[in-house]
Order: sequence, then C-alpha cells, then structure tokens
Amino acid sequence: MQFETSRTLISGAAASVAGGVNSAFRVGMRPHPLVFTAADGPFLTDVDGNRLLDYFLGMGPMLLGHRPPAVVEAAHAQLDRSILVAGQTQAEFRAAELLVRLVPSAELVRFSVSGSEAVHAALRVARAATGRSTVLKFEGHYHGWFDNVLWSVAPDPADAGPAGAPTPVAGSAGQAPPTDIVVLGWNDAGAVRDRLATRDVAAVIMEPVMFNNAGILPLPGYLEAVRQACDETGTVLIFDEVITGFRVAPGGAQQQFGVMPDLTVLGKALANGFPVAALVGRRDLMQLLADGRVLQGGTYNTQSVAIAATVAALTEISTGRPHERIAVTGARLMDGLRKEFADAGVDAQIVGYPAVFQVRFGAVRPADYREALAADREGYLDFAHALLGQGIRVLPRGTWFLSTTHEEDHIDATLEAVRTVLAARKGS
Ligand SMILES: Cc1ncc(COP(=O)(O)O)c(C=O)c1O
Repeated sequence: MQFETSRTLISGAAASVAGGVNSAFRVGMRPHPLVFTAADGPFLTDVDGNRLLDYFLGMGPMLLGHRPPAVVEAAHAQLDRSILVAGQTQAEFRAAELLVRLVPSAELVRFSVSGSEAVHAALRVARAATGRSTVLKFEGHYHGWFDNVLWSVAPDPADAGPAGAPTPVAGSAGQAPPTDIVVLGWNDAGAVRDRLATRDVAAVIMEPVMFNNAGILPLPGYLEAVRQACDETGTVLIFDEVITGFRVAPGGAQQQFGVMPDLTVLGKALANGFPVAALVGRRDLMQLLADGRVLQGGTYNTQSVAIAATVAALTEISTGRPHERIAVTGARLMDGLRKEFADAGVDAQIVGYPAVFQVRFGAVRPADYREALAADREGYLDFAHALLGQGIRVLPRGTWFLSTTHEEDHIDATLEAVRTVLAARKGS
C-alpha cells in the first residue's frame, strides 16, 4: 500500500495550513498524515485509493461506525429545518433526557461543542461551588488542550520530579503558569487522601479508566477510596468520561464500577462524530449554571444539526444493542489478538473493554503513568505502522476503538493482518 498522493497534498497544504494539519494530534503520524476522501461503516478511503479498516474511528466518536443511516438521516432532515437558531429546540431537550436516563449520576445537563470546553465548565462549577481554586489531576491523564488542565499529560520523567510528588509539566509552549493545579500519580488512594486533607482542593478530575497514555484500569477499591476522600473533605469529584462514556458501558465507567462522580464530562461517542459534548451532574452543582452564577456559553452550543444527530445516536445507544453487538465482536478481537501475540511469542497485554481497549507491548503491568513508560512504545509504533501497510489503521499510542459496523469478517481480516505483520517482525 502506498500513500504518495497524501504525502504530496500534505506538503503542498503546508503553504496555507499550519503544518498541513488542524490538530496537534495529527502531526507526526507515520508515514505522514493522510488525506481522506470518504468514510463508510468501518472503512476509510484515502486520496491514494486505499480502503483502510479503521480502528481510529475519528479518535473514538464513531461508535456506530462512519455515517450510520439513522444519524445521517436525522442530520439531513434537520438541515431542511434549521442550522443555528441561538435559542432552544425540542431536540436538545430530548437529547438531555436521553443522557439523564443513560448516565447514572446525571441529573442536569449542559451541552457544549468540545470535551475541552465541557471540562472547562466542570472546573468552573467546582470552583464556584467550593470557593476553592486548586484542582487535582493525575499524571498521564488528558482533559483537553486548555491551559488549566494541559499539565503532565505525557511528561518526560526527567522534568516531572519524583513519582510520589510530581511537578506539573506544561503540555505546550505559551501556557499560563500552573498556579491552581496539583498533579499526583494515579491509583494511589493514600496520596489523594493526604492531599485532600487540607481541604483546599476544589476538584479531583480523572479519566476513570486511563486511556489517553496507556490502558490502565483503576485498582480495586481506588475509585471508592477517592470518592470517600472527596466526600470527607467537601471536594468535587469529576469523571472525565469523554473516552469511557458509552464505550466502557452504555452509562460509562461510572456504571461499570458503580462509583458516582459529582460531575461528568461527556463527548466523542455522544454524537457519533458531530461536535457535541456535555457536562452532566448533581442537581445542586449544576444549579450554578441554571441560575447564571457560573457562566458557560458558546455560539455553537446545541447547533441544530449536531443535536439532531445526537438524539439519533443516543436513541440507538439507549437500546443497548450497540453494546451487546460490540461485546461479541470486540471480545473476538481481543481474544484473537491475545492468541496472535502468544503464537508469535510477543509479550503483549490487552487491557480494557470490547468497545475500547489498549494493546501494550512488553512485560510491564502498570498501575500509573510512570510504570507505563517501561512498555515497548517504539515496538508498538513499528507494529502500528506495519499494520497500516496491511490496510488496518490503528492508533500509534495503542488504543483500539470498535464500532457496531466492525463485523466478524473484518475482525478476522484484522487478525490475519496482525499475523502477517508479526511473522515479518519475527523474520526481520
Ligand atoms: C479524556 C478526554 N477528555 C477531554 C478530551 C477533549 O475533548 P475534545 O477533543 O472534544 O476537546 C479528550 C479528547 O481526546 C479526552 O480524551
């Protein structure tokens, strides 16, 4: 498979588009960023005419696959009625009702356009509710690209201080200083308890399953212990379920683990590719938005077409069918991958759930970001690149997303490609 037309277009586009891409996370892809012409079901078509089986799924959103008919029809129909009204539509009320029904801790909802914005609103609500400003986040967790949370997302340990007392490391040049952020290693309940004891922390924010840097499950009892420490100290617990929402379970990681946060950030699979995110949570906290004491806004919030698509996606998710379907195909893929790696003598672990899991090379079984650094990341990068050559597109960082449109024969084709790549790896 060759990607030369993409290469030429990207280098030409760099004359008018910064770096030829419109997100920092699209830089540095091997062999280079790709240019696509179409997407359908589990497939992407690129300008070189390659048809790629897609496990990026738009970085997670396309739970129902690319262009699912119900979502496409809802969006088309809405285009004939309105695009943007700077007011309310009944569709957004319906979308909120569906969310309240699906997500166990959701009592009230506020929509926004991106997960980063919804995180921003969550922190503002938490600070307003507690009268405190400090926010506690965890090394390796990603909560969007805004200044106040883009700390220690993928820090070089040389800059990050001791694992027990990490120093916040900026994720970007030009960031405002970390005056109100505290960073800890994840999965250490004692460290959270100790830090919250001084009762000056407004919120603890975490990915309840760490997927952005490595696939790491919460240790047994960890989420419960953090919940308890927050309760005892009047700290707001925020689950960032932008990835885990609708994938770990229809109601997210909170449903899976039975631990309820005070506030939850949702995005990605919520709208199957349309730009919609949401902050949901406890009625008394969300009331700060209702009465206007906390400001959250956005010209494009609940844009009519995006919200029509959201209703269609959530209606489908709430039947439970997508989850049941992916439970079967995802398990086939996870089990198949385990077998392929074992047969090839490759030390690899597969961590997570049928709709979102992480493949990691090496013997390490990390509980936090620092431990995860011992994994064979370079080896995985080579593997992901070789798979692309076989027509299978997987994220270089090891996360695999599945959709309802990945059929059993797609899974089997994937496993065959993996076998080919591992055989070539062994032979080289
Ligand atoms: C856990 C998590 N939180 C927040 C975000 C930010 O969402 P968005 O890219 O929609 O701003 C992301 C994006 O990948 C994410 O994975």
